[in-house]
Amino acid sequence: MNAERFLNDLNHLRSFGASGVGKGVVRPAYSEPDIAARKWLAERFAEAGLRVETDEMGNLFGLADAPSLLMGSHSDSQPEGGWLDGALGVIAALEVARSSRETGGPAISVVSFQDEEGRFGVTTGSAVWAGHLSLAEADLLTDHAGIPLVQARHAIAGMVTGPVDATQFQGFIELHIEQGPTLDQSGEQIGVVTDIVGIRDMKMTFEGQQNHAGTTPMHLRKDAFQAVSAFNTALNERFRNVVTPSTVWTVGHLSLHPNASSIVPGKAVFSMQWRDGDVDRLSRMEQIVRNTAEEIAQERDMALTFGPLLGLEPVVMDARLRQALMRGAQDIAPGEWREMPSGALHDATNVSRLMPVAMLFVPSIGGISHAFEEDTDEADLVAGVSVLVRAIRHLA
Ligand code: GLV
Ligand code: MN
Ligand code: MN
Repeated sequence: MNAERFLNDLNHLRSFGASGVGKGVVRPAYSEPDIAARKWLAERFAEAGLRVETDEMGNLFGLADAPSLLMGSHSDSQPEGGWLDGALGVIAALEVARSSRETGGPAISVVSFQDEEGRFGVTTGSAVWAGHLSLAEADLLTDHAGIPLVQARHAIAGMVTGPVDATQFQGFIELHIEQGPTLDQSGEQIGVVTDIVGIRDMKMTFEGQQNHAGTTPMHLRKDAFQAVSAFNTALNERFRNVVTPSTVWTVGHLSLHPNASSIVPGKAVFSMQWRDGDVDRLSRMEQIVRNTAEEIAQERDMALTFGPLLGLEPVVMDARLRQALMRGAQDIAPGEWREMPSGALHDATNVSRLMPVAMLFVPSIGGISHAFEEDTDEADLVAGVSVLVRAIRHLA
């Protein structure tokens, strides 16, 4: 691999939507910086001798001659995102494709999936590509501002070439930052992923009565925020008997209406997300979420609505691809790598419906991600790409 070329491209991608705070980026799916980044990536793919194709979702492919191994990740970011989440996997794949071509190695295709970060759904672009979600279903999803996906997609219409056939790919490998504390704390350089957790994600709404914050006695209020607060407290209590130390749940988005200091809020729309490696546990948690919310709504005489339940099942990584990554890890970082599960979601989950998949992690400094502070040592970034290069040789 050419480490300098790889790091230059990785740093250049950061300029699209640079937040001005640390190395952070603001590059949500279909935003102007996201599209500019995809156009720049398309040029890099073409320069590397790959055929550029973009499907209707905006998933961007650089295709080698078939059959090939697919590598990549995503180039969209969270509303406040780090520079490596997704971007690392895309630029690493590009570098592996280039270096493999230059040295007569196996054919490598590259992808940057769209909306992995879930402005509209959960890993929306790869979910549609892999058939987990139909385009018609996805089009109805809305972001937090109420904009439907079908409308946002207009912004990439000019880039679309058509569907990309998955049968040309022999497998999929995704390099990603760990986004958690494990490797950083152990001082190891590489994680070979064993499996990816499952997720459930749902919008919920409590509706009461908007009213005056000075004159409305407490016992007469139908305060939507108080309902969310009571729901959250009860939920944490009831989850206790069901969860394990690796189960996680989050209310990450909350919108109060009309969101003013002197108004008892009449409406609260919020996100409820939970993740675990066990499908039964995910279902039991869903029942608790629904029952608890219904009880709170009834007690407080409020309306309750649930949005569509989005989700991805837990998946196990392919043994053969994983073996190749482990051999690569042992070549590059002998004794300084481990096998580990992924608590973050990845496009690999969706792609596993179509072909064998595997994933590789490098450390996140301080375990921080989905924040502008996200970073990884350059030596670890380069080591990750080197492991990929070794792994495709082992596979070949
Ligand atoms: C993907 O970014 C996730 O939320 O795990
Ligand atoms: Mn990611
Ligand atoms: Mn992410």
